[in-house]
This record gives sequence, C-alpha cells and structure tokens, in this order.
Amino acid sequence: MQQLTMNLVVNAIHAQPNGGEVRIGAHRGRGAAQTSPAQVRQLEQETVCLVIEDDGIGMTPDVRERMFEPFFTTKEVGQGTGLGLSVVYGIVEEHAGEIDVRTAAGAGTCITVVLPQGRDDV
Ligand SMILES: Nc1ncnc2c1ncn2[C@@H]1O[C@H](COP(=O)(O)OP(=O)(O)OP(=O)(O)O)[C@@H](O)[C@H]1O
Ligand SMILES: [Mg+2]
Repeated sequence: MQQLTMNLVVNAIHAQPNGGEVRIGAHRGRGAAQTSPAQVRQLEQETVCLVIEDDGIGMTPDVRERMFEPFFTTKEVGQGTGLGLSVVYGIVEEHAGEIDVRTAAGAGTCITVVLPQGRDDV
C-alpha cells in the first residue's frame, strides 16, 4: 500500500509543475463515482477506498487509455520510466481491487483505489 500510495502521490505532484494541492483521503465503502457492472458487483461486498486527487494537467483520452501500460510515459527521457502505474495496477489486482480514474485534460485527476475490506476474524 505504501508503494501504491507513493506512486500515485508522486504522479499527482508531477502533474502540477507550478505547484498545487494533492488531496488524499480514505473511506469505507464506495463513493458514488463507480458505475461499471464489475464495480456494481463489488458494491455488494464491503470495500475500502483510497482517493488521490490533484488539480493538475489531467489526461487526454489517449493518455488515459494507456496509463497502466508498462513503460508508457509522457514525461521526458530520464524523467519517468512509465512503470509507476503498471506497478499500481499489479498491486491492486493482487488484492482483488479496482481502480477508478476520473480525469480530463487541464482539469485534474482523481484516482480511487477500491479494495475489498480486510477481515478481522482470519
Ligand atoms: N495524476 C496524473 N495527472 C496527469 N497525468 C498522469 C497522472 N498520473 C499518471 N499520468 C500519466 O500517466 C503516465 C504514466 O504514469 P506512470 O506513473 O506509470 O509513469 P511515469 O510517472 O511517467 O513514470 P514513473 O515510472 O517514474 O512513475 C504519465 O507519464 C502521465 O502521462
Ligand atoms: Mg509515475
């Protein structure tokens, strides 16, 4: 979870080259944001969410489409390896979670990691 959070926060910082705010939140249960059939299925289980939000450059649809691809980066050579989000994706998959992305070019990005809630009795 530390690695995942670090990757998302660093991305949010990089998306705001002139400074800005990165908002981090966590809550039990889903927000109202998720609508896909898979997401609705998981709604029936108990979940916890981690939300990382920035007011940065946002993503165009083509970047959004490729963001989880290994080695995909829009950063300059030497600035990014393009591995951060593929690692995040792998970690979330391992925990049977999902990632909800809300982004628009110039309008910031909000990433919600949805994870099944741990059980205290196991
Ligand atoms: N918060 C964000 N706002 C805007 N674009 C983002 C954001 N997070 C990721 N991206 C886009 O997704 C791309 C892939 O992100 P990813 O974290 O995988 O690689 P990276 O940040 O470029 O390099 P690194 O391997 O150092 O993390 C970024 O290059 C950027 O274009
Ligand atoms: Mg990154």
